Amino acid sequence: MKLLVTGGAGYVGSVCARVMIDAGHDVTVVDNLTTGNRDAVPEAAAFVEGDVGALAPEILGGGSFDGVLHFAAQSLVGESVEQPEKYWQGNVVESLKLLEAIRTTGTPRLVFSSTAATYGEPDAVPIVESSPTRPTNPYGATKLAIDHAITSYANAHGLAAISLRYFNVAGAHGGAGENRRVETHLIPIVLQAAMGHRESVKIFGTDYHTDDGTAVRDYIHVYDLARAHALALEAAIAGRHAIYNLGSGSGFSVRQVIETCSEVTGLDIPVVYAPRRAGDPAVLIASSDKAIGDLGWEPTNTALPTIVADAWEYTRALGDRAHSAPA
Ligand code: UFG
Repeated sequence: MKLLVTGGAGYVGSVCARVMIDAGHDVTVVDNLTTGNRDAVPEAAAFVEGDVGALAPEILGGGSFDGVLHFAAQSLVGESVEQPEKYWQGNVVESLKLLEAIRTTGTPRLVFSSTAATYGEPDAVPIVESSPTRPTNPYGATKLAIDHAITSYANAHGLAAISLRYFNVAGAHGGAGENRRVETHLIPIVLQAAMGHRESVKIFGTDYHTDDGTAVRDYIHVYDLARAHALALEAAIAGRHAIYNLGSGSGFSVRQVIETCSEVTGLDIPVVYAPRRAGDPAVLIASSDKAIGDLGWEPTNTALPTIVADAWEYTRALGDRAHSAPA
């Protein structure tokens, strides 16, 4: 297929672009490089620099694309609470322009990066796709708004659309991984502390109603996630918008993640305690049964030590290509 990958210079987008190229697809990446890295874009992809909304009409109008994988977004929970305008403008406005370009050019397929943050604080875990959507932060609210827009476009205009609601993505694949200019995600921060690039890891909140008082998340390997995108592209049906959760199905607390990183690296990781981070739910664990059943998805790297080991190998290999500064 001829595919447009928005946000293909970012972490998940760049891994998915690689997996699509390896599967024989023809990939064009569009990315404004505000958070992505030019060197993360696979060499075999065509690259266009700029905003998705402004560029999509020309790119999609210029060639018969079979589909769009839409990753480009602002994606930090904490930042979205402090700067919601960045999320409503950057996520919703840009995505609506992309949807219009998809409609007017007759591009048949869309796979959208949605998120567990659309659910907010769940009544029960594991979270299924029919769970209530009550986001606790603007990031989740903007992704949910885009999901609603996609549903309307699929119903009215025959778009074949799938939203994939990621839980906590981690790990690395094919030389691509987490290498942000400002890092806020737990596993890369812990590994930077293991490398001695940070003095310590702050644990945000020790008073959650969880076994050890720290927040619990479901970590999914980025390669398993990328393979789900390939399956979603094939499975999308014209006029339908399907939504699938993607996780590993088990929860790990912040303390357990730090312990696992310490075991995998063989290094001590100093911690300090800090208040809860605004907008953070206590527990997010996915049921991915629908994706497994409908898409034939088979996650293979679900063990947290495997995910951490791949992230560690990538982090150590980065050397002076590491972009990150402490948040
Ligand atoms: N955390 C710390 N210390 C840190 C960083 C994180 O204690 O230095 C905690 C957070 O408070 C949270 C957990 O570790 O409880 C995971 O935090 P991340 O920032 O790694 O990830 P989030 O759960 O906030 O968000 C991620 C993605 C979102 C996605 C969400 C779904 O960034 O896009 O997972 O679960 F929506």
